[in-house]
Amino acid sequence: MKKKIKKIGILTRDCAGINAAIRAVVRSAYSSGIKTIGIIRGYEGLMENNTIELNSRSVSGIINRGGTILKTARAKKFHSKEGQKKAIETIKTNQIDALVVIGGNGSLTGASILSSKYSVSVVGVPATIDNDINGVAMSIGADTSVNVALDALDKIRDTATSLERIFVVEVMGRDCGYIALRVGLAGGCEDVIVPEKKINIKEISKEISEGSIKGKMSWIVVVSEGKAKAADVGKKITKITGLETREVVLGHIQRGGRPTAYDRMLAARYGYYALELIKKGQTGRCVTLRNDKLSAIPLSKAIKKKDIRVGDYYKLIKLLT
Ligand code: F6P
Repeated sequence: MKKKIKKIGILTRDCAGINAAIRAVVRSAYSSGIKTIGIIRGYEGLMENNTIELNSRSVSGIINRGGTILKTARAKKFHSKEGQKKAIETIKTNQIDALVVIGGNGSLTGASILSSKYSVSVVGVPATIDNDINGVAMSIGADTSVNVALDALDKIRDTATSLERIFVVEVMGRDCGYIALRVGLAGGCEDVIVPEKKINIKEISKEISEGSIKGKMSWIVVVSEGKAKAADVGKKITKITGLETREVVLGHIQRGGRPTAYDRMLAARYGYYALELIKKGQTGRCVTLRNDKLSAIPLSKAIKKKDIRVGDYYKLIKLLT
C-alpha cells in the first residue's frame, strides 16, 4: 500500500551536478509539502545519525557549485550487518519515510541493500563521472568531467604542437573508458587506450614512428586510468620509438568544478523525478532517461556491470587522426 510521505532523506556521493540534484529534490519535496533532511558524509552519516534539516533556502546558490554541500565519505562499515542496523536506526529515529541516494555504483549498491534487505523506500539518482551505471545512458557529472578534461587537453595540445612533442594524458573513469573516448574524439587525439579494448602500444608506437618520418611530430595519446598508467605508456613509447614523451595525470580536477548546463538540467530532471517516484510509491528504482523521457529501472539492474562498447567512438578517432 502507498504510504503517506511526510519526510525524506537525501544522501550523496560527490561529483559536479550533485548540488543541483539536491536542490531539485529539496524544492520538489517542498512544493509537495514534504520535509527534507540531508545525511552528512554519506553512509557514514547514515550510520552515525549525522543529519541536517534542509529547506528551500538552504539550497539557494548551490546550482552552480561542484561537489556536495552534504559532504561524503567512504563507509566500509556499512557492508556489515551491524553498520546496516545502525543505518536503519537513523532512518527510524528521524522518521524518514523515503530516501534519495545520489551517487555512483557504491552508493546505489547501498541503496539496493536498504531496499531489498530492509524494505526501506529508496530511489537512486545516478551521479558519477565514470558514467558506468548499468541501464543509464547519462549519469550526472559525466558531461562536466569530459568538458573539464577537454579544457586541459586543449591546453596541452598548444604545447604539444609548439614543441612537437608526444603527450600521454591519463584520465579518470575507473574501469570505464567513457571519459577517455569522449575526450579523445572531442580533443582530436591520435589514440586512446581504454579498458574495453586490447592495448597495443607497439602499434601506437609504429604509427608515431611512421608519422614522424612524414613530419608529424606532435601526438596526444589519452589513457584511461583503468587500463594503464600514463608513465608506463610513455616509457614504452620512448623505448620503441626513441622519441621523448611527456605524461600528464589529470586526476581529481575532473570530478570537481562548475557543472555544465547539461549536468544541471539532468540533475533538475532526475531530482524532480525521484520525488515523483517516491510520491507514487514506486521505489527500489533508479531514475534514468529513455529517448529523453524520464523513466526508471530497478536498482538491482542499475548495480550490475555495464556492458560498455567502444564502437563508433574508437573508429572515428582513428579515422580522423
Ligand atoms: O568513481 C569516481 C572516481 O573519480 C573514479 O573515476 C576514480 O577512479 C575514483 O573515483 C577515485 O576515487 P578517490 O577519490 O577515492 O581516490
